[in-house]
Amino acid sequence: MTKKYLTDAHTTNKREFVENLYNNWSTSYDKEIAENDYATPNRVALILKNLISDKKTKILDYGCGTGLSGVALFKAGFKNVDGADPSEKMLQEARKKKIYSSVLKLNLDTPTPIKSGDYSIITAVGVIGPGAAPLELFDDIMSLLGPGGLFIFSFNDTALRVPEYLTKLNRYLITNSAKLLFKEYGPHLPGIHLKCMVYVIKKNDF
Ligand SMILES: C[S@@+](CC[C@H](N)C(=O)[O-])C[C@H]1O[C@@H](n2cnc3c(N)ncnc32)[C@H](O)[C@@H]1O
Repeated sequence: MTKKYLTDAHTTNKREFVENLYNNWSTSYDKEIAENDYATPNRVALILKNLISDKKTKILDYGCGTGLSGVALFKAGFKNVDGADPSEKMLQEARKKKIYSSVLKLNLDTPTPIKSGDYSIITAVGVIGPGAAPLELFDDIMSLLGPGGLFIFSFNDTALRVPEYLTKLNRYLITNSAKLLFKEYGPHLPGIHLKCMVYVIKKNDF
């Protein structure tokens, strides 16, 4: 029987745990996630579809994993999407789907080769939170966006229960470093009764 990972996944974002989790999970991730009706990629893609008329806009799917978030964007009409992830095993699955224009293996020990302003839209679907990337990634992604750039991301219930996550977001909003364009609470992984908030924030022009 294939080992299940989902119930243990949302515990910690200690780097060693996260690296082992996704390297071991890569080949069964899509199946287990589908069995639990993973809803966030389609929610994010629909929000972006309604917000962005130019479907050729270059998007970076940060923490793309096996590409489920990219598949949803592709189906929504976005055909200029790059993926980036630190897990080579997850990226091997993403490449098979042939939905990304390019795929970047992130090295978490060195500065990212992505330059500020390379992308006007960055997504992080199911990426920042316990069981995945640390909250510091929020600042890293915001620094990669140029003025007016959009960041679309989800915080699941587990992240929303930890005050630091909303404090981080609110600091950007309160200081006028970013503006909240949209937020919506809804299903994330209904199979394990987990919901999430999807946010769209726009980096300010100054
Ligand atoms: C739950 S998966 C989500 C994957 C994909 N976005 C999806 O919707 O299926 C979380 C992903 O975050 C990646 N990740 C973990 N730490 C990260 C970091 N520091 N920076 C970027 N991605 C990271 C993992 O390798 C994993 O592929």
